[in-house]
Amino acid sequence: MSASTESDKRKVTVQTFQKMKERGEKISMLTAYDYTMASILDQAGLDAILVGDSASNVMAGNKTTLPLTLDEIIFYGKSVVNGVKRALVVVDMPFGTCSGNPNKSLKSAIRIMKETGADSLKIEGGEEIAADMQKIINAGIPVMGHLGLMPQSINKYGGYGVRAKADAEAEKLKKDALLLQELGCYSITLEKIPASLAQEVATTLHVPVIGIGAGAGADGQVLVVHDMLGMNKGFNPRFVRQYADLHTVINSAVRQYVDDVKTSDFPNIQESY
Ligand code: KIV
Repeated sequence: MSASTESDKRKVTVQTFQKMKERGEKISMLTAYDYTMASILDQAGLDAILVGDSASNVMAGNKTTLPLTLDEIIFYGKSVVNGVKRALVVVDMPFGTCSGNPNKSLKSAIRIMKETGADSLKIEGGEEIAADMQKIINAGIPVMGHLGLMPQSINKYGGYGVRAKADAEAEKLKKDALLLQELGCYSITLEKIPASLAQEVATTLHVPVIGIGAGAGADGQVLVVHDMLGMNKGFNPRFVRQYADLHTVINSAVRQYVDDVKTSDFPNIQESY
């Protein structure tokens, strides 16, 4: 791991994101949903933590991100903020909380910012929700856009395949990315699109582009922490690099514990009062 310097210890802000893009320094981002994991990630020198609506999948066991509520993301967001000193904390706006009713969207955005203490929001969508985004940005809330595969639209796509392979969808994505930058988004996440398209968007935009399954040309990378730590046994898509096998580590630790309890090995004299 590259060591973090003294100056690296300063709180990461949306301005830091911009400066990192300008000096060509890649931005590291992972998801977290709880205090303990967030503090571990923060202490390891991660630049940004996303309280993703993937909490619906990895924390609650739902098949999609759609069931996650505003109250739930606020609970996760607050827990993460409590564990973070340095990283920029970004909270996802859940499905249905930013979709074509700017006043209602702003109300939801304000609730998340007030009740979690997060630094910014992430919102899925382009032109269709431009008015909502503008209203939120005008209220002084930093917004990260999210284009490409947008899991909140899974019922429209019918699957989690690579997006924007066809020219028409790629053209719309490029237009939407420029629009989001114009609206004032400080960064844009691009999910599961061809690497060449992500590289083109990252080169065109002056705000940082964060990729997930979008190749090496983005200005930064984000992964779901459970995936990169190997906690989801059966889930290993091509875009995830597994840095640990926590499923095996936890499984064998728990097996040992069960055995120790059953055989009365635990607790021993030193572990008793
Ligand atoms: O919710 C999430 O984890 C995300 C990432 C996949 C970018 O939005």
